Amino acid sequence: MSNLLVTENVIKNFGGLVAVNNASIAVKEHSFTMLIGPNGCGKTTLINCCTGILKPTGGRVLLGGTDITGWTPHKIYEVGFVRSFQIPLPFLGLTVLDNVLGAMRNPGESPFRAPFQRSWVQEEEDNVEKAMSILRRVGLEKHWNLPTQALGAAQLKMLEVAKGLSSGARLIALDEPIGGVDPASADEILTHVSALKKEGLTFLVVEHRIDIAAPFADYIYAMDLGCIIAEGPPEKVLSDPKVIEVYLGKGAEAC
Ligand SMILES: Nc1ncnc2c1ncn2[C@@H]1O[C@H](COP(=O)(O)OP(=O)(O)O)[C@@H](O)[C@H]1O
Ligand SMILES: [Mg+2]
Repeated sequence: MSNLLVTENVIKNFGGLVAVNNASIAVKEHSFTMLIGPNGCGKTTLINCCTGILKPTGGRVLLGGTDITGWTPHKIYEVGFVRSFQIPLPFLGLTVLDNVLGAMRNPGESPFRAPFQRSWVQEEEDNVEKAMSILRRVGLEKHWNLPTQALGAAQLKMLEVAKGLSSGARLIALDEPIGGVDPASADEILTHVSALKKEGLTFLVVEHRIDIAAPFADYIYAMDLGCIIAEGPPEKVLSDPKVIEVYLGKGAEAC
């Protein structure tokens, strides 16, 4: 399978701090690729450099072969690469369904097009149908009419995935999707994500809780101190002495 996302020697400095140091990763199409590492090792910063939230200090980011380095987040979103944040930020006053509809294209977005739009009602009805089918795929269809305040942590994470799907994403980066979620719900989230992968989506998942998430991964990159210190299938990476050392809290030597 071909690589959908590639980072080539990405560097991100914050003043004198090197948060990401020459990180090169490749996310294969239709894979569940995981990025692991201790707190503060640069996982979120690398995702931010890929999705346009931050501009890398050096290196390149390629999506489907196109150089997207330094593109704005909305432009990257438009070409099918979306991400969730560590802390979900839904529109709290709105229902689950409205949150998904809010992430979709709507004829009302263009003041020039809107008055001449003949199929407005039809388009909105189609969007509702599409949103409901997405909620079904992430296990939220029963909760479509609830305000988002009524959702638990795991459901809020799945709502983020639903919003990503509604935009027609082909690559979804999830930043700690099971953070703050109990183990049974975490398993449920990852099972849904795996099912979506089988439907053809690609996931780059940043996770801290490797014991729960690693069994779902096809390929893992391990980071420490901004560097990629190991990569490979889960069993290879999790038995790598450098990775074990980092997780035992000693910290690896700078790369
Ligand atoms: N906007 C920022 N300004 C300055 N330092 C930052 C910023 N974002 C992250 N950092 C620092 O960069 C390092 C990597 O952070 P982060 O990517 O959030 O780690 P992780 O997601 O692996 O926990 C940390 O030392 C963090 O304090
Ligand atoms: Mg983080």
